[in-house]
Amino acid sequence: GDIRGKLMKDIQAPPETSLTKVTVVGVGQVGMAIAFSIVNRHLAGELCLVDVDEKKVKGELMDLQQGLQFAGNMKIQGSTNYDITAGSKLCIISAGARQKDGEDRRALLDRNIAIFKGIIPQLMKYSPDAVLCVVSNPVDVMTYLTWKISGLPPHRVFGSGCSLDSSRLRHYMAERLKIDVSSCHGFVIGEHGESSVVVWSGLNVAGVRLADIKPDIGTDKDSEKWVDVHRQVIDSATEIIKLKGYTSWAIGLCVSELCRAVIGNQRHVFSLSTMAKGYQGIDQEIFVSLPCVLSQNGVNAIVNLTLTATEKEKLKKSATELAELFKSAKL
Ligand code: NAI
Ligand code: LAC
Repeated sequence: GDIRGKLMKDIQAPPETSLTKVTVVGVGQVGMAIAFSIVNRHLAGELCLVDVDEKKVKGELMDLQQGLQFAGNMKIQGSTNYDITAGSKLCIISAGARQKDGEDRRALLDRNIAIFKGIIPQLMKYSPDAVLCVVSNPVDVMTYLTWKISGLPPHRVFGSGCSLDSSRLRHYMAERLKIDVSSCHGFVIGEHGESSVVVWSGLNVAGVRLADIKPDIGTDKDSEKWVDVHRQVIDSATEIIKLKGYTSWAIGLCVSELCRAVIGNQRHVFSLSTMAKGYQGIDQEIFVSLPCVLSQNGVNAIVNLTLTATEKEKLKKSATELAELFKSAKL
């Protein structure tokens, strides 16, 4: 208009699409926790919200846009159509059914398979070069399915997997040791769920392994009962769902950090649901969490963990259970 014309002299239009465009599909409790965290930490140059619920996506879009003065400007779009997602570098999928109180994540499989069959081809149509991050549960099987449907090489698709479980482990470790959680190091691997595996031999502070101080840590002989920490990690979702109906903040912050590693090309190591065939004696094609190096083009490397025989056995059991679950699914 004439105010703008008098206010400034245009020299060149800015690029229509940011080089750091991120899409979030499914703007429910988890999707919006992820989106809010990405906006609040300014981890993308452009954000797209997609959902089947038109009113919800429009409302979330307006509400988020109106706070941008405080978080740093970025282009945010929202729609039920996927055309707005074109050129995304990272697509995060948090769409679908969540478990109710007392329901296991695995019970969501058939509903979410049907939903993903509609989402993944649309994302690939508009952003064939994107990296895909799966959050919806059961996340390991949903990641495998996403890989299958997308036609991408396996390292371009990953699941948030046990990055959340590892964050929960470190939270309880920090509570017990009374130090900053970011100074507590340790990995949970395997299924994001009941059969997850704590790599007790790897828990450390400043490189000092807890297992060197207490060799029976995590076993039933351990007088400090660190095995209770694993129980707390596994039970977190059930506990929180009982209390508030769903989980969102930890996964929101966790996935925003995965977004930062992709968009920032960081090569940071997270426990991610990745194609595990050929690692730790796993011989099936299945996605399960292992420590992965993550950057702009997805998973760059998988860390060769030194696992005890027990840890290795538990990991293989986790992978077998997931392979069975996938075989039982109606694809
Ligand atoms: P929610 O019910 O709040 O949101 C789900 C959203 O998906 C809704 O907005 C719904 O409209 C949308 N949706 C449904 N069908 C769709 C489709 N075909 N296309 C696009 N959007 C669609 O559920 P919430 O709490 O956000 O959980 C979402 C998923 O994330 C669940 O599967 C839940 O189990 C999973 N989750 C995974 C975690 C992890 O650590 N991997 C942690 C927490 C939740
Ligand atoms: C979790 C479930 C919902 O919060 O996946 O771990």
